[in-house]
Amino acid sequence: MYISYDAGKCIFSIETANTKYAFQIVGGKHPVHLYYGKKDGAEVAEFENRFRSFSPYSPDEGRIYLADTCMSEYVGFDSGDFRTSSLKIQNANGDCATFLSYKDYRVFKGRLDLEGLPCADADENTETLELTLVDELTNVEVKLYYTVFADCDVISRYVTVKNNGDSAVTIKKIMSLTLDMPDHDYDMISLYGAHVNERNYQRVPLFYGNQSIGSRRGASSHQFNPFIALCRKDADEVSGGVYGFNFVYSGNFLDEVEVDQTGGARVQLGLGSENFDWRLNAGDTFVAPEAVMTYSDTGIGQMSRNFHKFTLEHILPPEPFENRPVVLNTWEACYFDIDEKELLRFADTASKCGIDMVVMDDGWFGARNHDRAGLGDWYENRDKFKDGLKPFVDKMKAYGIKFGIWVEPEMVNPDSDLYRAHPEWCVQCRGREGMLSRSQLVLDMGNPAVLDYLKDIFSKTFDGVAIDYFKWDMNRHMSQVGSPILPADRQGEAAYRYMLGVYDLFRWFRAKYPNAMIENCSGGGGRYDLGMMKYSTMIWTSDNTWCRKRIRIQYSSMLAYPASTMSCHVAGLKHCEVPEQLKYIYEVALGGALGYELHLPNASDELRAAVKVQIGNYRKYEDLILRGDYYSIMNPYETNISAYYYTNADRDRILLSFLQNEPEEKSREITIKVCEAQADATYYDEIGKDTYTGEQLRQGVTVATDDSGWNSRMWYFVKQ
Ligand code: DGJ
Repeated sequence: MYISYDAGKCIFSIETANTKYAFQIVGGKHPVHLYYGKKDGAEVAEFENRFRSFSPYSPDEGRIYLADTCMSEYVGFDSGDFRTSSLKIQNANGDCATFLSYKDYRVFKGRLDLEGLPCADADENTETLELTLVDELTNVEVKLYYTVFADCDVISRYVTVKNNGDSAVTIKKIMSLTLDMPDHDYDMISLYGAHVNERNYQRVPLFYGNQSIGSRRGASSHQFNPFIALCRKDADEVSGGVYGFNFVYSGNFLDEVEVDQTGGARVQLGLGSENFDWRLNAGDTFVAPEAVMTYSDTGIGQMSRNFHKFTLEHILPPEPFENRPVVLNTWEACYFDIDEKELLRFADTASKCGIDMVVMDDGWFGARNHDRAGLGDWYENRDKFKDGLKPFVDKMKAYGIKFGIWVEPEMVNPDSDLYRAHPEWCVQCRGREGMLSRSQLVLDMGNPAVLDYLKDIFSKTFDGVAIDYFKWDMNRHMSQVGSPILPADRQGEAAYRYMLGVYDLFRWFRAKYPNAMIENCSGGGGRYDLGMMKYSTMIWTSDNTWCRKRIRIQYSSMLAYPASTMSCHVAGLKHCEVPEQLKYIYEVALGGALGYELHLPNASDELRAAVKVQIGNYRKYEDLILRGDYYSIMNPYETNISAYYYTNADRDRILLSFLQNEPEEKSREITIKVCEAQADATYYDEIGKDTYTGEQLRQGVTVATDDSGWNSRMWYFVKQ
């Protein structure tokens, strides 16, 4: 049992392997937060009223509970708490006051399935606390869920709202996770960026006021990832308290932290209010997406590993192949020039080099000879495939490789048969001309007719074709967001309904083509989130394939997501002049799931031979990268070095990487400590052909920086 209730004190406790969470029902009504942190030695103090002038209180209760200054589990708007709220509902009479009082609870094995939404899979240990709150005036019932993934030290939070009243209400803001913290002595880590520059690491102290990140783009976005962490000022990789938070959703979101007059910090993750409202008719229920949180008292590294384990065990779909295929993608080599004969050359060379799969990227369908036409017309271009797609794919596979194909289901070019037939199928605001981005418009995925069309055309084109892999792309953000099929008072639902439609189509793909894996992509890593990871085995990390930039993008992606989700291609080889460059680019790509993005058929014999050797080596330790434990040693945002290792549970195999980012005129010696090595063991480095004791590894291996600009080194330690 991870969840318990002390009826005498009205205290709920939730425990994971190393953490504890507690709250108390005060005055029979108010769920007040007490504690979240380390389990060992936790002292959970009972509720104490924190008085401040100007705080409203209920005349019935007096000042026993001041909503504005106490820590709360979930906060109704205009309920006497002036801080940012968790839930704002416009009631039938037009006001937005939302008072939530505790009604009852239940604890059950497993979890609530969030219909239509991605959510974490339960296992035999999963347990859930359901807490029912009610607004007695309007009869709106709110259920808060706390689902425990004890081994991962993760607690997930989600919310349902049911209108038990007799008139419609409108949800104007909804957050899935509210966590009130007693102080704000934290730095906030968040990941900001842009297209070709995703997930930059930013660590800044909390300040009084509201600080937030989010997306209003219809996608979780390149600009801000939904992951955030709050860490104690002195927290580093291996020590200090760190809270991590993430959202299992791929559309608009809001992560906010508000530091208030008490010095406390309110952390919230959810759909927010700016791009969302939802009309809730009498009897209807709204289900908000899941948010997750973890705590580590041993630094940032453990917080990341908690999330890695959680994602690997509870989010990612089962993999269809025994080994993750090493992919050769055509994009940077061919762009839109898809040519049957050329692709067969790709298949031939790929198979000779040990590559498992060729992915035919954009350009194979409709009138897609450039990015201004064809999206939406998901049938093969007969000028490019004279006999059709199936005979072509059969010829490709005759080389003994797997075959992948690119799709961008959510989009349409105005220059397409689909748009000409159905302009009303686009996301749009009535009477306004839609704005273009990459010459494309967004399909209204909340419209069932659009989903029916897509399912039908993909079935016609792909059924019977031996496709092993879909690369699912999404190359613009949503503007002028409205849906022609929704009435005026439901236009605020369009973006959310869009995401439900996207998830529906993902589930359809997975059910229809169960032996194919999906690589998610949004102009690179524009939807690098737990929602997408529920359906896609990996994500195209960034359209920026330049190794130096990738070092940083990979570091910060690893803060929240496991390496197996990170699609890392050896690319940019046209810049290569010396073999060290190829080695360096490869060693950067070994941070995640290895692939290639180059014109292999036109490459030199030396390059092809090198690729074959690289893949052979990767095979020796890919399990460590894809499923091992990750330890970061040097942060490339703080130093010129990235150093990290992957190791298995027994710590008898360790893959260590050192990557120097920029050249250094003056060489210096760096010591890299492999603290997870077994002190009394002996390890043989199969790359450097040298022997070390575990104690030596713990003290650190040394390596020198240089001015070459291509300085990297790897060690593969195997216990003897
Ligand atoms: C953006 C992706 O990130 C690229 O890898 C490629 O698939 C292009 N789209 C194709 O249009």
